[in-house]
Amino acid sequence: MYAIPFLDIPPLLHAGGTVRLPGSKSISNRVLLLAGLSEGTTTVHDLLDSDDTQVMLTALRTLGCHIEADGSSWRITGLGGRLTVREASLFLGNAGTAMRPLTAALAMLAATQGGRFELSGVPRMHERPIADLVDALRPLGCRIDYLGHAGFPPLRLLPGSSNLDLSVPIRVRGDVSSQFLTALLLALPLLTAEQTAIIDIEGELISKPYIEITLNLLARFGIAVQREGWQRFVIPAGSRYVSPGAIHVEGDASSASYFIALGALAATDAPVRIEGVGTDSIQGDIRFIDAAEAMGARVTGGPGWIEVSRGRWPLTAIDIDCNAIPDAAMTLAVMALYADGTSRLRNIASWRVKETDRIAAMATELRKLGAGVVEGPDFIEITPPLRWTPAAIHTYDDHRVAMCFSLAAFNPLAVPAPAAPVSVRILDPKCVAKTFPDYFETLFSVARTRSDWIPVITIDGPTASGKGTLACAVAEALGYQVLDSGVLYRATALAAIRSAVDADDEGALAALAEALDLRFESGAVLLDGIEVTALLRHENVGTLASKISAWPAVRQALLQLQRSFRRLPGLVADGRDMGTAIFPDADLKIYLTASADARARRRHQQLEVAGVSTTLESLLAGLKERDARDQNRAVSPLKPAADAVLLDNSALSIESTVGAVLNCWSQRGPFA
Ligand code: DC
Repeated sequence: MYAIPFLDIPPLLHAGGTVRLPGSKSISNRVLLLAGLSEGTTTVHDLLDSDDTQVMLTALRTLGCHIEADGSSWRITGLGGRLTVREASLFLGNAGTAMRPLTAALAMLAATQGGRFELSGVPRMHERPIADLVDALRPLGCRIDYLGHAGFPPLRLLPGSSNLDLSVPIRVRGDVSSQFLTALLLALPLLTAEQTAIIDIEGELISKPYIEITLNLLARFGIAVQREGWQRFVIPAGSRYVSPGAIHVEGDASSASYFIALGALAATDAPVRIEGVGTDSIQGDIRFIDAAEAMGARVTGGPGWIEVSRGRWPLTAIDIDCNAIPDAAMTLAVMALYADGTSRLRNIASWRVKETDRIAAMATELRKLGAGVVEGPDFIEITPPLRWTPAAIHTYDDHRVAMCFSLAAFNPLAVPAPAAPVSVRILDPKCVAKTFPDYFETLFSVARTRSDWIPVITIDGPTASGKGTLACAVAEALGYQVLDSGVLYRATALAAIRSAVDADDEGALAALAEALDLRFESGAVLLDGIEVTALLRHENVGTLASKISAWPAVRQALLQLQRSFRRLPGLVADGRDMGTAIFPDADLKIYLTASADARARRRHQQLEVAGVSTTLESLLAGLKERDARDQNRAVSPLKPAADAVLLDNSALSIESTVGAVLNCWSQRGPFA
């Protein structure tokens, strides 16, 4: 309901534990295209589920491939090189790994079999060059029109000469993006049943490891490309796609770079273990390990796993040619903030034509943190900050900018340590969905910090004031955890009913509270492994909860459990004493009220919707009785904390109540 405009990451101190990485983007989209062009069905295991792969799956479906999800696998039935759909408009988002190869494959199919296709994307995609690929395809007899600016998508592919001529070698530039060569290599087997295809590279080929991935996957689909150095690639006559039947996608090595860096920065006790990609990876970015080691990381690994811990500290500044690891090298730029001098990343001209101009983006955002940055056409130089400044990091719709800057939150570890550790605000954090939708959740599962650095917003108030709804909405907007403390008292009450413990037996009730086996799973509450979400809302459970919550021993028994919800990146806690007893140091305390009449009316409506029949009068009476009990008990009576913001929402919609709280937060939070 509430989009997250930003995510604030508090200063972080430690890392350790195991992460599993999503599938590689580069492998996923190549495999999907190859499966889509092959004859028969290919089962793809561990495919990356992200914006860029969704774009490719949708395009293949539009083109007539039969695609079904089967648990964590996908079954793709390919076209076998024959067009079944001859006219289509394909929207390819900002996925270069879809735009380039589909342009090549569909240009060849449109020419030889009479198709008409339009390929477009987001505005940034229309600024990413494609002329070199178009110029390589046109001499074969492909017909390609630019629909916007010459040299850039959107494109129209039209019927051309039905016999594309491979007698002359295809020439393509290799020094702008290796994706043009990849696109040709992936598509040319459509034409090589009877003729040999030869590709000659003009200029120095960049990002060679990505070409290795392409060649490796082509081999899995029956195409043995012969290569002469990095200058000439030959696909012999008689080559045609043969599906391997099943294929496994390894974890993304570029995504691994954030966790390798994490280990190098902050794994001082246990290592950070990465599963899904290992030192046997076919992805070039796995060589990021060498660069991380050069800076000081201690790395071990094997097939499908890597373990990283801190070695030298501070990190050693490096001067390194990043041509072979262009994507992962962005992570080095942030590691450089923790180095003992100036680091220089060279040979990264390709950064300028990626999701955004990454050299400009990294320079601008690193400077915001206080770093000294020099940028050139194909290099960047980074000197660690003398003074760290809290920064709102613009992410340019670039997943990698968002992911690598999260590592700046480890600034308390910098040498010398900043006098005041700073939070890092990541703007538009959802852009990580391009390759790693759960990136931040994964990061927070292995990152740790002082609990008093984790922000807390408390929302206290009487029953039916709308605290729960408000807390959930605020937590969703900020990407925070949520604690509905009433559930803990209700669960204790339910456990008491079940084991026939008397409401006056303080000791037995406290023992039940202490031993509660409660779990929270995607919105559901499980008590002793059984779902009790709806049961907990019953009036008799609520009334008993109100009674037993007056016992000091019960409140004491639930104290630690409540405080344990203070987890990264922050918490919104609702209840009666969140701001007074449980989180007295909370960063923002809201005391939410509404008139008894307004609350009784809301509760009445809720119950009606749930099909429970009651009268407004009995609800109002029960509510007043509960208010009196909650307000007059000896321990933690319901009352606003001295520093609470009082908010009466009798006449406010839920949206404006949420807006009011977020507004208070923007004036109180780390970026006030
Ligand atoms: O918020 P709720 O209606 O789910 O809470 C049920 C009862 O639990 C409430 O009447 C009083 C008690 N409670 C409490 O004493 N302290 C809290 N922090 C939360 C709830």
